[in-house]
Amino acid sequence: MTVKTEHLGTALLVTMAAPPVNAIGHATREGLSQALAQAAATPGLTRVILTGAGRAFAAGADAREFDAAPVAPHLNEICAGIATSPVPWIAAINGVALGGGCELALACRYRIAVPAARIGLPEVTLGVVPGAGGTQRLPRLIGLAPALDLISTGKPVTAARAEALGLIDGQVDDPLAVALALDIGTLSLATQTDDLPNPAADPEAVEAARQTALRKMPGQIAPLRAIALVAASADTSLAEALAAERATFLELRAGDQARALRHVFFAERAAKAPSTLTAAPAPLDRIAVAGGGTMGAGIAWAALDAGVSVCLLETDAEGVARARANIDKLAAAAAQARGLTDASGIAARLGRLVVDHDPAAAADATLAIEAAFESLEVKRQVFAMLESHLQPEAVLATNTSYLDIDEIARGLADPSRLLGLHFFAPAHIMKLLEIVRAGATSDRALATGYALAARLNKVPVVARICDGFIGNRILARYREAADTLMMDGSNPWEIDEAMVGFGMAMGPYEAQDLSGLDIAFANRRRQDATRDPARRYIPISDRMVNEGRLGRKVGVGWYRYPGGGGKVIDPLVEDLAREEAWFAGVTRRRIDEAEIVERLVLAMVNEAAAILSEGIAARASDIDLVTVLGYGFPRWRGGLMHHADSLGAKAIVARLSEWAQEDPLAWTPAPALLDAAECSSRHMDSPVS
Ligand code: 3HC
Repeated sequence: MTVKTEHLGTALLVTMAAPPVNAIGHATREGLSQALAQAAATPGLTRVILTGAGRAFAAGADAREFDAAPVAPHLNEICAGIATSPVPWIAAINGVALGGGCELALACRYRIAVPAARIGLPEVTLGVVPGAGGTQRLPRLIGLAPALDLISTGKPVTAARAEALGLIDGQVDDPLAVALALDIGTLSLATQTDDLPNPAADPEAVEAARQTALRKMPGQIAPLRAIALVAASADTSLAEALAAERATFLELRAGDQARALRHVFFAERAAKAPSTLTAAPAPLDRIAVAGGGTMGAGIAWAALDAGVSVCLLETDAEGVARARANIDKLAAAAAQARGLTDASGIAARLGRLVVDHDPAAAADATLAIEAAFESLEVKRQVFAMLESHLQPEAVLATNTSYLDIDEIARGLADPSRLLGLHFFAPAHIMKLLEIVRAGATSDRALATGYALAARLNKVPVVARICDGFIGNRILARYREAADTLMMDGSNPWEIDEAMVGFGMAMGPYEAQDLSGLDIAFANRRRQDATRDPARRYIPISDRMVNEGRLGRKVGVGWYRYPGGGGKVIDPLVEDLAREEAWFAGVTRRRIDEAEIVERLVLAMVNEAAAILSEGIAARASDIDLVTVLGYGFPRWRGGLMHHADSLGAKAIVARLSEWAQEDPLAWTPAPALLDAAECSSRHMDSPVS
C-alpha cells in the first residue's frame, strides 16, 4: 500500500508511503484517488490531512514511469479533485515537497511545513514543465515574478523562504499535530488557490526570466516553455491554462531532452559503491592533503565544507604561507557567495584546519590525498614521507591527472593502500570525482574513495589506469582533433563557437586559455617518447607555448585578454596556423560548423568507445557522467555516450570509416563501436562481449 488512510476523529489522514522519497507512481496515484473517494463518502469529515511517510512529503512524479505512456489516474486530475473538494485538504509537509509533491500541496487549502522542508518545482531540470497545475496555482498564490523564478530555474526553496513568499501558511515542528488542531474558522477562511484571481501581468519579469534561461540553460526547451505557461497565467482562464500546461508536459516528457536529462539524473544516483564492494572504508573524520596549491587547497576546502578535519601539508614555511593564502581566498569567496556560509560557519571550517610543514602533524589522518606537482619523482617522495608518518592502515590517494599510478605505487612498501582520487578544478565546486583503481588497490582503499565521494557530495566514477584515465584521455583526443581542424582550415573562435552552439559550456580553446596551455604542453612532452611517429602531429599549440601565449594567466593565449578583461579574437593566431599549414604542405579548406561539430564529437565518441573496449570505464553511463560533470558536455544531450546512441552506432562507424581512409591512426572505429554497429539494436550501454 503506497497510500495509507486513517480516521483521526473528524479528520482523515492520508499518508503517501513509497520509500525512500515517496515518488508518485501509478500505485500512489491510485491510492490518492481512492482517498479522494473515501473523503467524499465520509459524512461529518472536517478535514483531510495529506502527509508523507519517512523523510519526504513527496519527491514528485515517479520519473521512472516517464518512458512509458501515462496511465490513469493522472496527477493533474487528482490535484483538481483536491482543489475542488468540499472538505478542505491540508498539506502537512514533513520533508521535501518537489514537483508533483509541491503541486499536491498547492492544490490543498492550507500548507504547513517542517523548518527543514525544501519545496519547489524542479521539473525543468528533468526537461519537462510542471504537469499538475504548478505553473498556474503557484503564480496565483505567490505572484508572477517569484513563481517565474522558482519554476524557470527549478531551484527549491527552504521552508522559511516558502513562508516569506506565501507558498506555505506556516512552519512548525509537528505539522500533523497543527493540522489536526487547526480550528475550523481559520480553515474556512483560507482561500482555495483555484479561487484566487489571475496574478498581475509582469512582462518585465517574464523577459528577465527568459534572458536568464537563455544564458544559464542554453539549448534547453523546458525552461522557456515553462516561462510561457507561467506568463499565460495572468490572462488565461484556469481551465484553459491547465489544459495547455498538461499538453506541454506530455509533449516534453516524450522528447529527447527529457529522456537525456532523466538518463543523467538516474546515472548520478546509480553511481554509488556497488553492493559487491563489501570492504569497510577507512573512517573519514580526519584526513591529510599533501600540497597546498590551488588544487590541494580546493580539496581541503571541500573536506572542511563537509565537516572533515584537515591537515594540509606543505614542504616548508613558505609553502605553508602560500597554502594559507589559498585557503583564505576560498574562505573569502565562500563568505561572499550569496551568504551561503555565515561568519561562524567559516570560522568552524577554519577551526578544523591545520596547515603545517611537519608531516608528524598528519600522523592521525586515516586518508591522505597527495596534490603535489605532476612529477613521478615528486609524488614518490611525498608518498615515502606519508608512509613513514601515517598509521599503516591509513589509505593513500594521488590526485594525479595523467601519471601511471602503478608506477607511483611501486615506490610504496604496501601498494594496496594507494588509489587515484582525481578531483576537478575548482575541487570544492565540481561534482565529479574520478576514482582510479590501480593494479594493487585494495577493496578497502576503493571503498574509502566511494565513502569520500559520498561525504563530499560528489559523484564517483571508477576508472582503470591509462593515460588521462577517462576524462582527460577523451579531452586529449578532442583537442588533437580540434588542432587538426585548425591546421586544415578552421580557427579557434570558429571551433569554439561551433562547440558552444552544440551545447558545450565552453569551446576547447577558451577552456585551454583558462587552464593554461603549459599543462597540455608538458603532457605532450611526456608522450613524445611513446607517440607513434606515424601519427599526424599538429605543432600549433607547441608554438603558442614557445611564444609565451600560455592563456588567461598571462593575458594572452588563443585569445587576447586586454587588461585582464574579456576575450578578444587575435588574428595573429590564424596567421600562425596558416604558416604552420604552409610548412607542413597542407592546403587549407573551408570547414563549416556542422563538420566541426561532427568531427569533434565523433573523435570523442571513438576515444570513449576505446576506453570501454579496454575496460578503463565499466559502463557507458560512467562516461556520460564524466563528460557532463567534469567537461561541460551538455547535460540535456545526456552525456557523450547517450548522445552517441541517439546518433546510432552504424552511422557513427560509417562516418569514422570514411575519415579513416584519410587518416587511419586517428579515425579507425574502436571495437566497442564496431560491435554495437554490428548488432544495431544494441546500445553502447549494453555489455560488450
Ligand atoms: N522519480 C523516481 N525516482 C526518484 C525520484 C523521482 N522523482 N526522486 C528520487 N528518486 C529515487 C532516486 O532515483 C533514488 O533511487 P535509488 O535509491 O534507487 O538510487 C532514491 O529515490 C533516493 O533519491 P536520492 O538518492 O536523490 O536521495 P536524496 O535524499 O539525495 O534526494 C530528492 C532526494 C531531493 C528528492 C532528489 O531525489 C530529487 O531531487 N529528486 C527529483 C525531484 C524532481 O525532479 N521531481 C520532479 C519530478 S517530475 C514531476 O513531478 C512532474 C509533475 O509535475 C507532474
